Amino acid sequence: MKRVITYGTFDMLHYGHINLLKRAKEMGDYLIVALSTDEFNWHSKQKKTYFSYEKRKQLLEAIRYVDLVIPEEAWDQKTSDVKLYKVDTFVMGDDWAGQFDFLQDETDAEVVYLARTPEISTTQIKKDLNTKDLTTDHKSKTD
Ligand code: CTP
Repeated sequence: MKRVITYGTFDMLHYGHINLLKRAKEMGDYLIVALSTDEFNWHSKQKKTYFSYEKRKQLLEAIRYVDLVIPEEAWDQKTSDVKLYKVDTFVMGDDWAGQFDFLQDETDAEVVYLARTPEISTTQIKKDLNTKDLTTDHKSKTD
């Protein structure tokens, strides 16, 4: 069985995330998502998430491509995760291109960077929600 792992925050799950997870799963048979904890996001990635770790985990577990969700608590856990879970392929979006090539020397895993889906990110959704009025429904506008 070919095992694939990917890492990320996956806050306010969107179609860019789904595209990434679908392509990651297609690279093997079993997909593990290492999901950044709230503490790791806050202290190491300077990100405050909208959804808590437990809610983001629940959403990911409902995705058909995802087989297992584990916590990401530190930058340096990747080598031990890859060894512990006998990972064949480490996958990230290409916003991280080149940054995890060291895993190919430290483990037997292949490192692959997949093209990001254009024009969508959690940051962009948050900006749009701040600037566009998406709360008024069509009916009340015509009343
Ligand atoms: N990703 C992607 N295409 C997008 C957005 C994200 O392929 N349009 C991938 C990232 O490259 C990463 C994974 O999804 O491998 C999780 O990314 P994450 O940083 O959680 O999502 P973003 O939407 O980029 O969040 P943010 O704006 O907070 O950085």
